[in-house]
Amino acid sequence: MTQLPAHCTAIRGAVLTYTGDPFVEGIEATRRYESDALVVVADGRIVAFGPAGEVAPQLPAGTPIEQLPPHQLLSAGFIDTHVHYPQLPIIGAYGEQLLDWLNQYTFPAEAAYANIEHARAVAHTYFAENLRNGITTAAVYGTVHPQSVDALLEVSEAHNLRTIAGKVLMDRHAPPELCDTAQSGYDDSKALIDRWHGRGRQLYAITPRFAPSCSPEQLETAGALWRERPDCYVQSHLSENLAECDWVAQLFPQAANYLDVYDRFGLVGPRAVYGHGIHLSEGELCRCHASHTALAHCPTSNLFLGSGLFPMHQAKRADRALRVGLGTDLGAGTSFSMLVTLNEAYKVAQLQGQPLSAGHAFYLATRGGAQALHLEDTVGSIAVGMEADLIALDLHSTPIIEHRMRYARDLDEALFVQMTMGDDRAVAATWVAGEKRYTRTPT
Ligand code: GUN
Ligand code: ZN
Repeated sequence: MTQLPAHCTAIRGAVLTYTGDPFVEGIEATRRYESDALVVVADGRIVAFGPAGEVAPQLPAGTPIEQLPPHQLLSAGFIDTHVHYPQLPIIGAYGEQLLDWLNQYTFPAEAAYANIEHARAVAHTYFAENLRNGITTAAVYGTVHPQSVDALLEVSEAHNLRTIAGKVLMDRHAPPELCDTAQSGYDDSKALIDRWHGRGRQLYAITPRFAPSCSPEQLETAGALWRERPDCYVQSHLSENLAECDWVAQLFPQAANYLDVYDRFGLVGPRAVYGHGIHLSEGELCRCHASHTALAHCPTSNLFLGSGLFPMHQAKRADRALRVGLGTDLGAGTSFSMLVTLNEAYKVAQLQGQPLSAGHAFYLATRGGAQALHLEDTVGSIAVGMEADLIALDLHSTPIIEHRMRYARDLDEALFVQMTMGDDRAVAATWVAGEKRYTRTPT
């Protein structure tokens, strides 16, 4: 038995977490539920976790213990693997599909981030909402302006949140004030990597917006930068909308398929995270699997923009399961809530005759996101050594949920009710690296 540090703190209550991928190994082998557990934290990390009866005798005398109410459940913080913080001012923009939505709403909104004060103000709102919704790790797009990333990561650092972010690379098919060049995009990204990647909990993603916004020269320099700094991330968009896919085929006639556009420039591999991936061929799915390239499923966005139905059952086929996380994809996505996102993911799966169980869904929102970001040894589950990013979910967060829960027969039904009916009100508290950073105000 290892000696726990004298300055540790503890949380006691019911715990839900995962030790592996239930799509591959099954729920029984990967889900851990403890009805009365102790999670012990010191220096921002989990130092002990187990049934309260086993862990309590190890606690140093006088360790403060926070007891959760009986209808709360402790989980790892939620992980958002794809989001655009600059688009908060255009959430819910009416009527268009992807390419027109970008031109009419998105690009004009993103032009405002030349002003770092605007960027800072939105970044504050963004992280406050994340904490209210229990999102403790996110992979975030800035705009083309490097200062959009500085503003975001300054605020992230002040909250001590783990955030991956990148300046968007785009040198064509956008208004001139939103275009960089292959060289300036490379130089600005490199300077941001030097400033931010690995500073505290901040990480950098090389971020070519998507193939249509990047000239071949720009994709080439993006790939070159990743080869120089392979510990960084790459994030982009892939196969979201059918008109987009046709356009990519016209722009890159030599490529075998959409993924191959990125592959040819060395932008596929571990720590590459592509948003959407709705209309992929079996060959592209196999290439993602073999190369450890991840997909971010963004159901509220895909439904809102009418983009299509992500084939989760194909992406997570057990014999070649991809790394898949969930994304809010704000501002094409419509909610910060991971529970609302799970609700929509369930419906997207249902429309394909492949329901998504609560056991699989809560994995996707936590450890699945961490696996997509290659951070499964750092965040996304409750286990010794993990960073202590935690949330307390209130399973009785509204009167109708409280009523419905009286009839829940088991854990699966209770969790399914949460993902069907719950939202931000279900997050009672959020801890970041062991510090409580959000407590829901009593209603
Ligand atoms: N494809 C290229 N840019 C974007 C964006 O900002 N949002 C979404 N949903 N798709 C994109
Ligand atoms: Zn996106």
